[in-house]
Amino acid sequence: MAKKVGVVGARGIGTTHANCHKDDDLADLVAVCDVVKERADELAEKVGVPAYYSVKEMLAAHPELDIVDVCTGGYENGSWHFEPTMQALEAGKHVLCEKPISNQVTEARQMVDFAEERGLYLGCNLNHYFTEPADQAMERMNKGEVGEVLYCLHKMGFAGGELSYGGTPNGHRDKNFPYFHVKAFLAHPFSIMRYFCGDITHVQAFLSQPSFRKKAGDVMLSVNSIHVRFASGAVGYLLSQRGDATFGLGGWWSVEIGGTQGTVVIENCVEKLSYYPGPQPDGAANPELLAMGETDGPIVTNTGITDFGATFPTRIHAFLEDVTNEVPRSKLRSSGRDALATLEYTFAAIESFEAGGTLVRPRALPPIHGEPTLEG
Ligand SMILES: NC(=O)c1ccc[n+]([C@@H]2O[C@H](COP(=O)([O-])OP(=O)(O)OC[C@H]3O[C@@H](n4cnc5c(N)ncnc54)[C@H](O)[C@@H]3O)[C@@H](O)[C@H]2O)c1
Repeated sequence: MAKKVGVVGARGIGTTHANCHKDDDLADLVAVCDVVKERADELAEKVGVPAYYSVKEMLAAHPELDIVDVCTGGYENGSWHFEPTMQALEAGKHVLCEKPISNQVTEARQMVDFAEERGLYLGCNLNHYFTEPADQAMERMNKGEVGEVLYCLHKMGFAGGELSYGGTPNGHRDKNFPYFHVKAFLAHPFSIMRYFCGDITHVQAFLSQPSFRKKAGDVMLSVNSIHVRFASGAVGYLLSQRGDATFGLGGWWSVEIGGTQGTVVIENCVEKLSYYPGPQPDGAANPELLAMGETDGPIVTNTGITDFGATFPTRIHAFLEDVTNEVPRSKLRSSGRDALATLEYTFAAIESFEAGGTLVRPRALPPIHGEPTLEG
């Protein structure tokens, strides 16, 4: 039976999520909620469900809710995630929360602990790897076609320069928050790196102007140059930016994962996957020829998809599937714990930056104990 869903936060992203639930057979959207009445009313009208003006009110009116989908924002795009998430968990509801899981790592730890304590699913909308190229890359990795991962090279850029941003201050979201960009956006690239390469144990960061443009004409390039080491021993590099530079190779986001058996490269997030076979006995990728640029090209899959918006229904469907199928909590895709990892790395990067680029070991994640009745 379709899961009954209530959406909290009725602006841009709340509207996107509400529409995804409307269109998904696994969901039955029953309510929307926003503390700003007009916003709640407007979305409610669009999607044809009742509006509520507080989470408490929505929960009281709909005890049958299975899932609360938290699409609030706040300072650094995350300060309004904690309260509605905790309220929903307290009421025994599963929660899907937008990214970053919170703008405070201490709150994120509490959210993950509380969901675990209550035996509920807490998912996060780390939607960037719910794509065809990411699925194909992972399939190749699982088949051993990349082999032992040696390195991960990731670039992610968001528009936000003088022309696209127009110098309009972003109001409360960035005011007096020097780490706006880092806290609001690194969840995505860190989630990609961890998805493919596992936990990160060492972080070293150089951040140029980690915040946001304050007024028209400001030089606003938030460029984050972050060097990491994975628990596996592989190394990685992330260049994340929001601002005036235009990325060249690989488009607005690309990742290259190189291993002993081959290399996968994703370009433009949803668009393209290239596979470069490693040295083979038949000479398919003879390293000598490779070095001279004389091998055949990689195996390329173009999905024909360029719209990043395609990640929302796919990711939301995955959450609905996991909840419907009652997967062990430790197997939940893009879980709260996964999101906490990205925030631990973000806070490690900030700590490293503040200390002039020193090496920081992010705090270890809470252990997974598993569920004896479900785990095979
Ligand atoms: N995953 C992605 O690709 C992606 C893309 C863009 C934005 N986001 C995230 O989505 C979230 C929402 O973005 P947005 O631009 O729609 O935010 P927004 O700030 O424009 O809207 C949030 C809404 O939530 C309401 N709200 C806040 N606290 C509330 C509460 N306790 N109860 C009820 N309503 C409450 C606000 O009144 C507001 O209308 C942000 O966290 C952002 O980081 C994710």
